[in-house]
Amino acid sequence: MNKVRHIGMIMDGNGRWAQLRRKPRTFGHIKGARTAKKIITACSQMGIENLTLYAFSTENWLRPQAEVNFLMHLLRRYLKRESENLVKENIQFRAIGEVERLPADLVNAIREVTQATQHCTGLKLTFAISYGSRQEIVHAVQKIASKVQKNLLTVEQISETLVSQHMETYPACDPDLIIRTSGEQRLSNFLLWQSAYSEFCFTDTLWPDFSKEELIAIITDFNSRERRFGKTSPQIANEQLIN
Ligand code: FPP
Repeated sequence: MNKVRHIGMIMDGNGRWAQLRRKPRTFGHIKGARTAKKIITACSQMGIENLTLYAFSTENWLRPQAEVNFLMHLLRRYLKRESENLVKENIQFRAIGEVERLPADLVNAIREVTQATQHCTGLKLTFAISYGSRQEIVHAVQKIASKVQKNLLTVEQISETLVSQHMETYPACDPDLIIRTSGEQRLSNFLLWQSAYSEFCFTDTLWPDFSKEELIAIITDFNSRERRFGKTSPQIANEQLIN
């Protein structure tokens, strides 16, 4: 049976959920933030090691300013309200992405919650905020090139492991499972390097309606999948016998 150690979540469909109810998009984001809180607690209780939530992409900066401001407000409010709960639930928080593009007070709030939870040993919760995977890869290439330029590394030392170590998600393992809600079947610049061998689940459920029960059903399905990593089925069966 597979063990899911890292789940990546593309929380999509807040706007459509609100539109279906003839409400403003912001209403969907409020409900979406509540769902995020429930799913974080569920993952923590299920003993999942890592959860990475796509909270705001680099492309989301292109949305109407009022919606961007509202999403920033929700993130701010989440961090303020949840800091103590995260410590209580033993959840370690961190953010990845071009965090410096965020409003200064939000950057401070992220720093504070990261510090407050740094000794927590349970679920490692990562918010991808102002995050874009291609940008992350470019930054990793720049960091590696700079080390080569300073003679700290040789070109021959550049390996897959070394590149992984320069990704922002490091030292988390690669995501075993990436879930996207709302029926869209694409990655939208999320964890491109890290998802080389991830299993995918695309569900039609809109993010505000996503539940712990559906998450458990998805994990149960994941557990029954055969992950071959390029090998054959008999090889995998043999390895399982030995282990
Ligand atoms: C996609 O819905 C969702 C986002 C743009 C970001 C996710 C944000 C939240 C869940 C709320 C804030 C989260 C926290 C944890 C405070 P969409 O607007 O793209 O939906 P649509 O595709 O139906 O328009």
